[in-house]
Amino acid sequence: MYSTIAGTGSYLPEKILTNADLEKLVDTNDEWIRSRTGIERRHIASEGETTTDLAEHAARRAMQAAGVAPGDIDLICVGTTTPDLVFPNVGSLLQDRLGIHGCPAFSMEAACTSFMYALGVADKFVRLGDAKCALVVGAETLTRIVDWKDRGTCVLFGDGAGAVILKPSAEPGILCTRLHSDGRYKDLLLYPDGVSKGFALVREGKAGVQMKGNEVYKVAVNTLGGLVTETLQACGIGKEQLDWLVPHQANIRIIEAIAKRLDMPMERVIVTIAEQGNTSAASVPLALDTAVRDGRIRRGQLLLLEAFGGGFTWGSALVRY
Ligand code: COA
Repeated sequence: MYSTIAGTGSYLPEKILTNADLEKLVDTNDEWIRSRTGIERRHIASEGETTTDLAEHAARRAMQAAGVAPGDIDLICVGTTTPDLVFPNVGSLLQDRLGIHGCPAFSMEAACTSFMYALGVADKFVRLGDAKCALVVGAETLTRIVDWKDRGTCVLFGDGAGAVILKPSAEPGILCTRLHSDGRYKDLLLYPDGVSKGFALVREGKAGVQMKGNEVYKVAVNTLGGLVTETLQACGIGKEQLDWLVPHQANIRIIEAIAKRLDMPMERVIVTIAEQGNTSAASVPLALDTAVRDGRIRRGQLLLLEAFGGGFTWGSALVRY
Protein backbone atom coordinates (compact mmCIF):
# COMPACT_ATOMS: atom_id res chain seq x y z
CA MET A 1 0.00 0.00 0.00
CA TYR A 2 1.22 3.50 -0.88
CA SER A 3 -0.18 6.97 -0.43
CA THR A 4 -0.75 9.18 -3.45
CA ILE A 5 -1.33 12.92 -3.86
CA ALA A 6 -4.96 13.25 -4.97
CA GLY A 7 -5.02 17.06 -5.07
CA THR A 8 -3.10 20.21 -4.15
CA GLY A 9 -4.05 23.72 -3.05
CA SER A 10 -2.39 26.88 -1.79
CA TYR A 11 -3.06 30.40 -0.64
CA LEU A 12 -1.10 33.65 -0.39
CA PRO A 13 -2.32 36.65 1.62
CA GLU A 14 -3.28 39.68 -0.48
CA LYS A 15 -0.86 42.17 1.03
CA ILE A 16 2.50 42.38 -0.80
CA LEU A 17 5.75 43.80 0.55
CA THR A 18 8.32 44.60 -2.16
CA ASN A 19 12.05 45.08 -1.80
CA ALA A 20 11.42 48.80 -2.39
CA ASP A 21 9.03 48.80 0.60
CA LEU A 22 11.78 47.21 2.72
CA GLU A 23 14.22 49.94 1.70
CA LYS A 24 12.01 52.28 3.77
CA LEU A 25 12.20 50.01 6.85
CA VAL A 26 15.88 49.00 7.01
CA ASP A 27 19.22 49.89 5.42
CA THR A 28 18.94 47.58 2.40
CA ASN A 29 18.34 47.76 -1.34
CA ASP A 30 16.61 45.81 -4.07
CA GLU A 31 19.88 44.86 -5.79
CA TRP A 32 21.35 43.34 -2.59
CA ILE A 33 18.24 41.31 -1.81
CA ARG A 34 17.78 40.04 -5.38
CA SER A 35 21.40 39.10 -5.95
CA ARG A 36 21.94 37.40 -2.56
CA THR A 37 18.56 35.66 -2.25
CA GLY A 38 16.50 35.84 -5.48
CA ILE A 39 13.61 37.48 -3.60
CA GLU A 40 11.69 40.39 -5.16
CA ARG A 41 8.54 40.51 -3.07
CA ARG A 42 6.69 38.52 -0.42
CA HIS A 43 3.09 38.24 0.82
CA ILE A 44 2.28 39.34 4.36
CA ALA A 45 -0.74 38.28 6.42
CA SER A 46 -2.87 41.29 7.24
CA GLU A 47 -3.70 42.26 10.80
CA GLY A 48 -5.89 39.60 12.38
CA GLU A 49 -5.22 37.08 9.59
CA THR A 50 -3.87 33.92 11.22
CA THR A 51 -2.06 30.75 10.18
CA THR A 52 -5.37 28.85 10.42
CA ASP A 53 -6.99 31.37 8.05
CA LEU A 54 -4.29 30.75 5.45
CA ALA A 55 -4.42 26.98 6.05
CA GLU A 56 -8.20 26.92 5.56
CA HIS A 57 -7.99 28.56 2.11
CA ALA A 58 -5.24 26.17 0.99
CA ALA A 59 -7.08 23.14 2.43
CA ARG A 60 -10.35 23.98 0.70
CA ARG A 61 -8.55 24.38 -2.64
CA ALA A 62 -6.76 21.03 -2.21
CA MET A 63 -10.05 19.33 -1.28
CA GLN A 64 -11.71 20.79 -4.36
CA ALA A 65 -8.84 19.66 -6.60
CA ALA A 66 -9.04 16.13 -5.15
CA GLY A 67 -12.84 16.06 -5.32
CA VAL A 68 -13.23 15.28 -1.62
CA ALA A 69 -15.74 16.66 0.90
CA PRO A 70 -14.93 17.52 4.53
CA GLY A 71 -16.71 14.35 5.64
CA ASP A 72 -14.24 12.22 3.66
CA ILE A 73 -11.19 13.45 5.62
CA ASP A 74 -10.02 11.16 8.40
CA LEU A 75 -6.64 12.73 9.30
CA ILE A 76 -5.47 16.34 9.52
CA CYS A 77 -1.75 16.94 9.85
CA VAL A 78 -0.45 20.53 9.78
CA GLY A 79 3.17 21.63 9.68
CA THR A 80 3.69 25.07 11.24
CA THR A 81 6.05 27.04 13.47
CA THR A 82 3.64 29.94 13.91
CA PRO A 83 0.40 28.58 15.40
CA ASP A 84 -2.51 30.93 16.18
CA LEU A 85 -2.54 29.80 19.80
CA VAL A 86 -0.42 27.71 22.14
CA PHE A 87 -3.38 25.33 22.06
CA PRO A 88 -5.68 24.12 20.57
CA ASN A 89 -3.25 23.21 17.81
CA VAL A 90 -3.75 24.51 14.25
CA GLY A 91 -4.87 21.03 13.10
CA SER A 92 -7.79 21.12 15.55
CA LEU A 93 -8.64 24.74 14.69
CA LEU A 94 -8.63 23.86 11.00
CA GLN A 95 -10.76 20.78 11.68
CA ASP A 96 -13.38 23.00 13.33
CA ARG A 97 -13.35 25.46 10.39
CA LEU A 98 -13.97 22.60 7.98
CA GLY A 99 -16.77 21.15 10.13
CA ILE A 100 -14.99 17.82 10.60
CA HIS A 101 -15.46 16.00 13.91
CA GLY A 102 -13.54 13.20 15.60
CA CYS A 103 -10.63 12.34 13.30
CA PRO A 104 -7.05 12.89 14.56
CA ALA A 105 -5.87 16.46 13.96
CA PHE A 106 -2.52 17.81 15.05
CA SER A 107 0.36 20.12 14.18
CA MET A 108 4.02 19.31 13.78
CA GLU A 109 6.72 21.85 14.50
CA ALA A 110 10.04 21.48 12.68
CA ALA A 111 10.60 25.06 11.42
CA CYS A 112 10.88 25.25 7.60
CA THR A 113 10.85 21.42 7.41
CA SER A 114 7.46 21.17 9.17
CA PHE A 115 5.52 20.29 6.00
CA MET A 116 7.95 17.51 5.10
CA TYR A 117 7.51 16.11 8.62
CA ALA A 118 3.71 16.36 8.31
CA LEU A 119 3.83 14.64 4.92
CA GLY A 120 6.13 11.89 6.21
CA VAL A 121 3.85 11.15 9.16
CA ALA A 122 0.61 11.30 7.15
CA ASP A 123 2.18 8.98 4.55
CA LYS A 124 2.75 6.39 7.29
CA PHE A 125 -0.89 6.64 8.45
CA VAL A 126 -2.12 6.04 4.91
CA ARG A 127 0.34 3.21 4.20
CA LEU A 128 -0.68 1.43 7.40
CA GLY A 129 -4.34 1.72 6.51
CA ASP A 130 -5.06 4.07 9.42
CA ALA A 131 -6.18 6.92 7.14
CA LYS A 132 -8.00 6.83 3.82
CA CYS A 133 -8.10 10.55 3.11
CA ALA A 134 -5.46 12.71 4.81
CA LEU A 135 -5.29 16.49 4.67
CA VAL A 136 -1.66 17.62 4.97
CA VAL A 137 -0.94 21.34 5.25
CA GLY A 138 2.09 23.61 5.57
CA ALA A 139 0.98 27.03 6.80
CA GLU A 140 2.90 29.90 8.26
CA THR A 141 2.70 33.54 9.36
CA LEU A 142 6.43 33.73 9.98
CA THR A 143 6.54 37.49 9.40
CA ARG A 144 4.85 37.81 12.81
CA ILE A 145 8.04 36.65 14.56
CA VAL A 146 10.55 38.48 12.39
CA ASP A 147 12.62 41.35 13.82
CA TRP A 148 11.72 44.16 11.41
CA LYS A 149 14.83 46.06 12.46
CA ASP A 150 17.22 43.23 11.48
CA ARG A 151 18.05 43.62 7.77
CA GLY A 152 19.86 40.26 7.80
CA THR A 153 16.61 38.34 8.35
CA CYS A 154 13.52 40.53 7.76
CA VAL A 155 14.08 40.64 3.99
CA LEU A 156 13.88 36.85 3.70
CA PHE A 157 10.47 35.74 4.92
CA GLY A 158 6.86 35.76 3.72
CA ASP A 159 3.51 34.21 4.71
CA GLY A 160 1.37 31.58 2.99
CA ALA A 161 -0.07 28.08 3.03
CA GLY A 162 -0.07 24.98 0.86
CA ALA A 163 -1.94 21.69 1.18
CA VAL A 164 -2.23 18.21 -0.30
CA ILE A 165 -4.78 15.43 0.00
CA LEU A 166 -3.29 11.95 0.39
CA LYS A 167 -5.23 8.80 -0.51
CA PRO A 168 -4.26 5.13 -0.51
CA SER A 169 -3.14 3.54 -3.75
CA ALA A 170 -1.75 0.18 -4.86
CA GLU A 171 0.78 2.11 -6.99
CA PRO A 172 3.11 4.85 -5.69
CA GLY A 173 2.41 7.72 -4.99
CA ILE A 174 4.95 8.62 -2.42
CA LEU A 175 7.88 6.25 -2.97
CA CYS A 176 9.69 7.27 0.20
CA THR A 177 10.16 10.06 2.69
CA ARG A 178 13.31 10.91 4.61
CA LEU A 179 13.30 12.97 7.86
CA HIS A 180 16.29 14.17 9.88
CA SER A 181 17.28 16.52 12.67
CA ASP A 182 20.48 17.55 14.44
CA GLY A 183 19.96 19.77 17.50
CA ARG A 184 23.68 20.55 17.59
CA TYR A 185 22.90 23.42 15.24
CA LYS A 186 20.19 24.94 17.46
CA ASP A 187 22.04 28.27 17.87
CA LEU A 188 22.47 29.03 14.16
CA LEU A 189 18.78 29.69 13.40
CA LEU A 190 16.23 30.27 16.14
CA TYR A 191 13.49 32.30 17.74
CA PRO A 192 14.85 32.75 21.25
CA ASP A 193 11.67 32.89 23.33
CA GLY A 194 8.52 30.89 24.02
CA VAL A 195 6.00 29.63 26.53
CA SER A 196 8.38 27.83 28.84
CA LYS A 197 10.96 30.62 28.59
CA GLY A 198 8.28 33.00 29.87
CA PHE A 199 8.15 35.40 26.89
CA ALA A 200 10.53 37.79 28.69
CA LEU A 201 12.21 38.83 25.42
CA VAL A 202 8.83 39.31 23.75
CA ARG A 203 7.71 41.61 26.57
CA GLU A 204 10.92 43.64 26.23
CA GLY A 205 10.46 43.87 22.44
CA LYS A 206 13.75 42.00 21.92
CA ALA A 207 12.46 38.77 20.36
CA GLY A 208 12.76 37.95 16.68
CA VAL A 209 14.18 35.33 14.34
CA GLN A 210 17.97 35.15 14.77
CA MET A 211 20.24 33.66 12.15
CA LYS A 212 23.92 33.22 11.39
CA GLY A 213 23.21 33.44 7.67
CA ASN A 214 26.60 32.44 6.34
CA GLU A 215 26.85 29.33 8.48
CA VAL A 216 23.24 28.33 7.81
CA TYR A 217 23.94 28.66 4.10
CA LYS A 218 26.94 26.33 4.18
CA VAL A 219 25.28 23.63 6.29
CA ALA A 220 22.09 23.86 4.19
CA VAL A 221 23.93 23.25 0.90
CA ASN A 222 25.93 20.32 2.31
CA THR A 223 22.99 18.75 4.11
CA LEU A 224 20.51 19.07 1.26
CA GLY A 225 23.12 17.75 -1.17
CA GLY A 226 23.46 14.63 0.99
CA LEU A 227 19.70 14.37 1.45
CA VAL A 228 18.81 14.27 -2.23
CA THR A 229 21.43 11.58 -2.88
CA GLU A 230 20.21 9.54 0.11
CA THR A 231 16.57 9.82 -1.01
CA LEU A 232 17.27 8.65 -4.56
CA GLN A 233 19.43 5.77 -3.29
CA ALA A 234 16.74 4.68 -0.80
CA CYS A 235 14.28 4.27 -3.68
CA GLY A 236 16.78 2.91 -6.22
CA ILE A 237 16.06 5.84 -8.53
CA GLY A 238 18.70 7.52 -10.71
CA LYS A 239 18.83 11.33 -10.78
CA GLU A 240 18.27 11.27 -14.55
CA GLN A 241 14.80 9.80 -13.91
CA LEU A 242 13.61 12.90 -12.04
CA ASP A 243 11.18 15.21 -13.83
CA TRP A 244 11.05 18.02 -11.25
CA LEU A 245 12.87 19.27 -8.18
CA VAL A 246 10.43 21.02 -5.81
CA PRO A 247 12.77 22.61 -3.26
CA HIS A 248 12.29 24.67 -0.13
CA GLN A 249 12.47 28.31 -1.23
CA ALA A 250 15.03 29.78 1.18
CA ASN A 251 17.63 31.20 -1.18
CA ILE A 252 18.00 30.90 -4.98
CA ARG A 253 21.70 30.15 -4.57
CA ILE A 254 20.96 27.14 -2.32
CA ILE A 255 18.34 25.94 -4.84
CA GLU A 256 20.82 26.27 -7.72
CA ALA A 257 23.49 24.35 -5.78
CA ILE A 258 21.13 21.42 -5.21
CA ALA A 259 19.96 21.45 -8.83
CA LYS A 260 23.62 21.29 -9.89
CA ARG A 261 24.19 18.35 -7.56
CA LEU A 262 21.34 16.56 -9.35
CA ASP A 263 22.55 17.67 -12.83
CA MET A 264 19.13 19.24 -13.33
CA PRO A 265 18.80 22.37 -15.49
CA MET A 266 16.91 25.18 -13.73
CA GLU A 267 14.06 24.68 -16.24
CA ARG A 268 13.21 21.52 -14.29
CA VAL A 269 13.28 23.20 -10.88
CA ILE A 270 10.16 24.86 -9.43
CA VAL A 271 11.19 28.31 -8.23
CA THR A 272 8.69 30.64 -6.54
CA ILE A 273 11.10 32.54 -4.33
CA ALA A 274 11.03 35.79 -6.32
CA GLU A 275 7.31 36.26 -5.66
CA GLN A 276 6.96 34.56 -2.28
CA GLY A 277 10.22 34.73 -0.33
CA ASN A 278 10.80 32.05 2.29
CA THR A 279 7.38 30.99 3.57
CA SER A 280 8.91 28.34 5.85
CA ALA A 281 6.61 25.29 6.20
CA ALA A 282 4.40 26.58 3.38
CA SER A 283 7.11 26.88 0.76
CA VAL A 284 7.25 23.32 -0.65
CA PRO A 285 3.46 22.76 -0.91
CA LEU A 286 3.08 26.30 -2.33
CA ALA A 287 5.69 25.56 -5.01
CA LEU A 288 4.08 22.18 -5.74
CA ASP A 289 0.59 23.65 -6.14
CA THR A 290 1.87 26.55 -8.26
CA ALA A 291 3.47 24.15 -10.76
CA VAL A 292 0.53 21.71 -10.76
CA ARG A 293 -1.90 24.53 -11.51
CA ASP A 294 0.21 26.17 -14.23
CA GLY A 295 0.50 22.78 -15.94
CA ARG A 296 4.24 22.19 -15.55
CA ILE A 297 3.85 19.22 -13.18
CA ARG A 298 1.72 16.52 -14.77
CA ARG A 299 0.33 13.17 -13.62
CA GLY A 300 2.86 10.34 -13.72
CA GLN A 301 5.92 12.57 -13.36
CA LEU A 302 8.60 11.95 -10.75
CA LEU A 303 9.15 14.75 -8.20
CA LEU A 304 11.74 15.27 -5.50
CA LEU A 305 10.53 17.49 -2.66
CA GLU A 306 13.04 18.72 -0.07
CA ALA A 307 13.30 21.22 2.79
CA PHE A 308 15.73 22.45 5.42
CA GLY A 309 15.12 24.55 8.53
CA GLY A 310 15.89 25.54 12.12
CA GLY A 311 16.89 22.74 14.45
CA PHE A 312 18.45 21.95 12.09
CA THR A 313 15.81 19.78 10.55
CA TRP A 314 15.69 18.47 7.01
CA GLY A 315 13.45 16.17 5.04
CA SER A 316 12.44 14.96 1.60
CA ALA A 317 9.88 12.98 -0.33
CA LEU A 318 10.18 11.21 -3.67
CA VAL A 319 6.76 11.33 -5.33
CA ARG A 320 5.25 9.85 -8.46
CA TYR A 321 2.57 12.51 -8.99
N1 COA B 1 20.79 44.53 2.81
C1 COA B 1 22.02 45.01 2.63
N2 COA B 1 23.10 44.52 3.25
C2 COA B 1 22.92 43.48 4.08
C3 COA B 1 21.66 42.92 4.32
C4 COA B 1 20.57 43.49 3.64
N3 COA B 1 19.31 43.03 3.79
N4 COA B 1 21.78 41.90 5.19
C5 COA B 1 23.09 41.81 5.49
N5 COA B 1 23.78 42.78 4.83
C6 COA B 1 25.21 43.03 4.85
C7 COA B 1 25.88 42.50 6.09
O1 COA B 1 25.73 43.39 7.16
C8 COA B 1 27.31 42.37 5.63
O2 COA B 1 27.90 43.65 5.65
P1 COA B 1 29.43 43.83 6.11
O3 COA B 1 30.24 43.04 5.11
O4 COA B 1 29.62 45.29 6.03
O5 COA B 1 29.49 43.25 7.49
C9 COA B 1 27.16 41.98 4.15
O6 COA B 1 25.83 42.34 3.77
C10 COA B 1 27.38 40.50 3.91
O7 COA B 1 26.60 39.79 4.86
P2 COA B 1 26.56 38.24 4.84
O8 COA B 1 25.65 37.77 5.93
O9 COA B 1 27.94 37.68 4.78
O10 COA B 1 25.87 37.99 3.42
P3 COA B 1 25.63 36.63 2.68
O11 COA B 1 26.23 36.68 1.35
O12 COA B 1 25.93 35.45 3.55
O13 COA B 1 24.06 36.66 2.46
C11 COA B 1 22.10 35.66 3.39
C12 COA B 1 23.20 36.68 3.59
C13 COA B 1 21.20 35.69 4.61
C14 COA B 1 21.31 36.05 2.15
C15 COA B 1 22.73 34.27 3.18
O14 COA B 1 23.71 34.03 4.18
C16 COA B 1 21.73 33.17 3.24
O15 COA B 1 20.84 33.10 2.44
N6 COA B 1 21.87 32.25 4.20
C17 COA B 1 20.96 31.17 4.35
C18 COA B 1 19.71 31.68 4.99
C19 COA B 1 18.61 30.70 4.94
O16 COA B 1 18.44 30.04 3.97
N7 COA B 1 17.85 30.67 6.02
C20 COA B 1 16.69 29.92 6.13
C21 COA B 1 16.99 28.47 6.18
S1 COA B 1 15.46 27.65 6.24
